[in-house]
Amino acid sequence: MTKQNLDWGSLDFGYRETSYSYVCNYKDGAWDEGGLTTDHTVTMSECAGILHYCQEVFEGLKAYTAENGDIVCFRPDMNASRMADSARRLVMPPFPEDKFIEAVKMVVEANKDWVPPFGSGATLYVRPYMFATGIVIGVKPATEYQFRILVTPVGPYFKGGDTAITITVADFDRAAPRGTGDIKAGLNYAMSLHPYEEAHANGYSENLYLDSATRTYVEETGGANVLLVDKQGNLVVPQSATNSILPSITRRSLVQVGRDLGMNVIERPVKYEELVAGEFVECGLCGTAAVISPVGHIESEKYGSVTFVDGAETSGPVMRKLRETLTGIQTGKIADEHGWIVKIA
Ligand code: PLP
Ligand code: COI
Repeated sequence: MTKQNLDWGSLDFGYRETSYSYVCNYKDGAWDEGGLTTDHTVTMSECAGILHYCQEVFEGLKAYTAENGDIVCFRPDMNASRMADSARRLVMPPFPEDKFIEAVKMVVEANKDWVPPFGSGATLYVRPYMFATGIVIGVKPATEYQFRILVTPVGPYFKGGDTAITITVADFDRAAPRGTGDIKAGLNYAMSLHPYEEAHANGYSENLYLDSATRTYVEETGGANVLLVDKQGNLVVPQSATNSILPSITRRSLVQVGRDLGMNVIERPVKYEELVAGEFVECGLCGTAAVISPVGHIESEKYGSVTFVDGAETSGPVMRKLRETLTGIQTGKIADEHGWIVKIA
């Protein structure tokens, strides 16, 4: 195989069909062998559970070309276990975690000519997902499911790379206490589309969601967790009082990276009014797609506006250091002390 002839540096975060996907079906209480397919379409009954009661969960991770030419991915075991947690919450059969990792390796290796080259700024986005294919008409869990992985080469999630974005505070809620905010299910994103379109129409890149019980605490955005740096230089990571933030693998990794770099990391509930009072000098959105995208401003007439003085135009020094260290580990420029990197090819 030879590398695809793409303008890797100008890719956006979009879908492009690649050579292979992975597919595996669950029936009669067991997952089948599973394997690669060149069929990028899905055919199922009009009465499939996904179409009516939204039994679907998904994951997102990336494959990278390291500096030495290896193709690697980052902590796929964490995606495997989070997807199993998500599945259990929606009464779906968890996809076996070791099989998940094997499937990721298989589909990335088969598509290795689609993995963007080192230094291009692009990566191969890997999207595992599973959904109810079995027939249901009364409200109940289906008995048949399909697990798939699609891969697609992508550029940055937010246009403009390191240019700080401006976001707003959503007047809608993302996740209820004791709801599904802490799992990665499509249903959490369906309800975010309306506020997302509204934010875009008003010129904002994203929505910040507050806790829906009291609307006082910072939760997360539609597709990323929030990181803050306070005036004393501490890395402050908002915690949910109601367990309604998605446990981001990037965020949990950055907490460790921050500590490794000697930063003081504080994980605690953060009130939005602390941001308005000017307690924080940097803000970033972190996730697989977002990596760490700098937030320069939050604008809201209702909740109050914020400027992050050390990162108003581009990443501030702490977010930059965190991003460089994380992407350095992911591409093999910095030693992987925690065993996070899995070699694929
Ligand atoms: N929060 C939400 C709502 C997300 O969709 C994502 C993306 O996966 C994240 C946070 C970041 O999670 P991770 O770092 O595991 O990609
Ligand atoms: C990811 O970061 O992998 C996600 O799934 C976020 C999504 C909004 C693109």
